[in-house]
Amino acid sequence: MAATDTWDDRAERITARARRVLDLNWREGERRGVHYAYTEPDPGRYPWQWYWDSCFAAIARRRFEPERARAELETLLAAAEPDGFIGHTIFWRRPVSWKRYAFYNVISRGDFMTRTIQPPLLAYAWRLAVGDPAEEPGIVRHQDWVERDRDLEGDGLLWVLQPDETGLDASPQFDPIWGRRAQGLPLFPLLVRRNRRLRFDIRAVRDAGGPILCGTMTNVLHGLSRLALGRPSITPALVDRLWDERAGLFRDEAWPALDRPAPVTWAALSPLALPDLPEAIGRRLVEEQLLDPQRFWLPVPPSSVAANEPSFSRRDTHLGLRRYWRGPTWVNAAWLLWSGMLRLGYDAEARELADRLAGAVEREGLREYYDPYTGAGMGAKQFAWSALAVDIASGDPPPLTLD
Ligand code: GLC
Repeated sequence: MAATDTWDDRAERITARARRVLDLNWREGERRGVHYAYTEPDPGRYPWQWYWDSCFAAIARRRFEPERARAELETLLAAAEPDGFIGHTIFWRRPVSWKRYAFYNVISRGDFMTRTIQPPLLAYAWRLAVGDPAEEPGIVRHQDWVERDRDLEGDGLLWVLQPDETGLDASPQFDPIWGRRAQGLPLFPLLVRRNRRLRFDIRAVRDAGGPILCGTMTNVLHGLSRLALGRPSITPALVDRLWDERAGLFRDEAWPALDRPAPVTWAALSPLALPDLPEAIGRRLVEEQLLDPQRFWLPVPPSSVAANEPSFSRRDTHLGLRRYWRGPTWVNAAWLLWSGMLRLGYDAEARELADRLAGAVEREGLREYYDPYTGAGMGAKQFAWSALAVDIASGDPPPLTLD
């Protein structure tokens, strides 16, 4: 920031950049008589509609283009099947290419959507960007589908059948679970092929021996959606099942169970975004984990993996394949943790995070993720959800108390 600049000047410049990217990535058209309107996550790399990317794009847009934010979320609803299912990726404009078919969770190449999900954030995004999701029958149906299909044990917590369902693709927390068939490794297509045979039905995957996962971050976003709908909180169930009091962090639960702890990633801290997280837990997450310069508090925090984990890496490719979420800093993760810090009163630290992250975004543009040591932009070059940096730069968190 130049010496005469104020914080507001910077927020304004980031807003201008964000608006430009969101405009450039906006797509509208018609498919079989259905109008669609959505933000491509990145025109070069991601030409379709991705479920959670759309939710984040709508949340970012709520400040300056509420009509488009609404149209984007309505487009997700327009893709829904009659029972409420909405896939992870929706192929409005053209089906998945042959090249990507081996990696995408479709049953046949002409499918309109993948058969897998992403973190069910729609009701929460609707609440922030549009209004009361409980008044939208399509959202209620979708949420009911999610709970019916994925709450396998009736305690309110959801399970996923593949790492990409969490949105965190190749995160090292999945290494001990999916092993050589983890995403970002050459054998991942074998996992897709096996699950395709099982029609991506989570009960069939479980009955075939798994693995399946009760993931912390998926359940945090699911919990926010439930609160947005006025349904009872799942935070007590999350704490009960996934909080590790000794380690002071949350741990995903895999089935079959792991015989060693998985690497610690930002997902272990993601419950900070929950408005009803017990305060003592939130303070431990911030003070013992997030603010630790050996772990997440790197020059551009928060790294996506604790830096003292052997699997932490600043690189994003391996054997010619992209491996996401193994160290670099992502804006959506920063946004969730930052809002939790503010809620708990860590104002100076939240501002520090905002300063360092906004500096990187201003210098490098809306990149997909950033080197946590240098702030260098990495991955896609025109990445929509990094527009959440506008909230961060403006010091203006989403309302976390939903009354
Ligand atoms: C990568 C990310 C995933 C995101 C997608 C589109 O696969 O890991 O979270 O939804 O790109 O941006």
